[in-house]
Amino acid sequence: MYKAIIFDVYGTLFDMSSLKKGMTQFDDEQATSISKLWRKTQLNHMFLKQIMQRYISFDELTKEALRYTMDEHKIQYDREDINRLFDAFLNLEYFYEVPKILAQLNNMNIDVGILSNGNDNMLRPLIDNSELGENINTVMSVNEIKQYKPSPASYALILKYHHLKREEILFVSSNSWDVTGATNFGFDTAWVNRQNGHFDYNGQNPTITVNNLNELINWLEMNK
Ligand code: LAC
Repeated sequence: MYKAIIFDVYGTLFDMSSLKKGMTQFDDEQATSISKLWRKTQLNHMFLKQIMQRYISFDELTKEALRYTMDEHKIQYDREDINRLFDAFLNLEYFYEVPKILAQLNNMNIDVGILSNGNDNMLRPLIDNSELGENINTVMSVNEIKQYKPSPASYALILKYHHLKREEILFVSSNSWDVTGATNFGFDTAWVNRQNGHFDYNGQNPTITVNNLNELINWLEMNK
């Protein structure tokens, strides 16, 4: 049985499609297109900056990605517009089962943590606004080491905060690149495949694939 379960944040606990919520000035089609390109650009910049070793904090990177997204959509903006749209990242909706699952893991005496590329300015308000905090024991941000996931050093942060063996830790993410990174580091991993997609195999497979976190609990119960 695992002693700690560490979750990714964006897309895993929180639903990225809720980014659209704050985009009331755009019609639904445009809001969907903006939120998709925004997230895609955010991840792309993250990988590129990691390769170039040009770390900047994730809030700055996310705003940079938004400016490009707005340019691509030919929408004019000022600094206030960017800050207002960025606020959506602090108010994302969690997937429906998340509060119950985190509470259940705590009841099973499993230590629950998160590891995100988000910096504290992003993670703290998000967690406070969602009220998930009471069941998250450790909030880990790569900002501490200034290297993004999926670098091995980023996953090593988990071992700094948990004095456990690697095999006592399960890393959970909906993002296949993140699952690949954590598996590469030596953790068991769960891929949360909410969209019924194909795993983007890039040299590593997850230990288990589930469609949602309820299925993860069932699997943990079965493998006690
Ligand atoms: C995270 C993102 C980038 O680390 O999904 O939470």
